[in-house]
Amino acid sequence: MSALVAPQDLSRWMQCRVQHLEQVLDQLLPPADSTPTRLHEAMRYAVLGGGKRVRACMVYAAGQTCSRAGKIDTAQKTALDHAAAAVELIHAYSLVHDDLPCMDDDALRRGRPTVHVAYDEATAMLAGDALQPLAFQLLSAMPVAPALVVQAIRRLALAVGSHGMVGGQAIDCDSVGLALSAEQLQQMHRLKTGALLEASVLLGGIVVGASSSTRDKLQTYAKAIGLAFQVVDDILDTTSDTATLGKTAGKDAADNKPTYPSILGMDASKALLQQLSSQAHEALYPLGGQAGWLAGMADYIVSRDR
Ligand code: IPE
Ligand code: IPE
Ligand code: MG
Ligand code: MG
Ligand code: MG
Repeated sequence: MSALVAPQDLSRWMQCRVQHLEQVLDQLLPPADSTPTRLHEAMRYAVLGGGKRVRACMVYAAGQTCSRAGKIDTAQKTALDHAAAAVELIHAYSLVHDDLPCMDDDALRRGRPTVHVAYDEATAMLAGDALQPLAFQLLSAMPVAPALVVQAIRRLALAVGSHGMVGGQAIDCDSVGLALSAEQLQQMHRLKTGALLEASVLLGGIVVGASSSTRDKLQTYAKAIGLAFQVVDDILDTTSDTATLGKTAGKDAADNKPTYPSILGMDASKALLQQLSSQAHEALYPLGGQAGWLAGMADYIVSRDR
């Protein structure tokens, strides 16, 4: 077994990380009263005050796992904050664009009107456009060895481009109404959602100088939980409700999207989650007790209800 963390301890740890990250994001985003104010307000609206912050928690958990004897120095702390903020900025931008009328056309996100509804479509598009380079700017300012900065930038860039998140979103757009094969569905989910989660885990390791053999283990863990995350998202879309999710439930079926429950069925989707959870935990065994938060995050991802 990998290190065990009680759910209430994980929940406290996540709460603490999230509170800290909200302050970091608040400071790193452009002030709302700076020109162009409408754009900056929309960027802040998209990022602040909501979201589970799973990707940021992955950065912190991986940083803790790979640190020497669990110790993280001040410069590494700042670098982890920048990396955690960067992945949340990319994620926020992806949600703003995902919700646009030309994509999923959603009016509700994190319990509030989506950015294009609260502002307008052009502002939503531009807010997403501006959040993306800000993420890379934050990585470039991490106070760690330049070689690690370059590795982190490269890792995130590869994860979110046409061979990663955006590629997955393109496949998603092209797949409406199609009965994808299990392989095609897996590929779409690994790209559109798994890739950024994988990068989040890897970034935490890179920042604290994880060895290549440790990075390999992180990669195996992250690949499993990255796919699991979107399988759960698909399941919750059919089993949960709008108030709990903070976004419109039942939207995948309404839009005729291929999902794990619609293609494989609910039982097989849940069985797959158990398999992916085991794979994630197995990858962490060799990392010992320091991998406790990562192990806890894997359990959280498969059992979450929102
Ligand atoms: C939603 O992600 C979009 C997917 C990639 C499935 P989250 O469920 O992490 O959304 P927030 O950040 O908590 O709102
Ligand atoms: C979104 O997937 C993936 C990205 C934003 C990259 P979904 O379209 O399933 O996410 P939700 O359900 O709107 O949050
Ligand atoms: Mg979508
Ligand atoms: Mg969507
Ligand atoms: Mg979804």
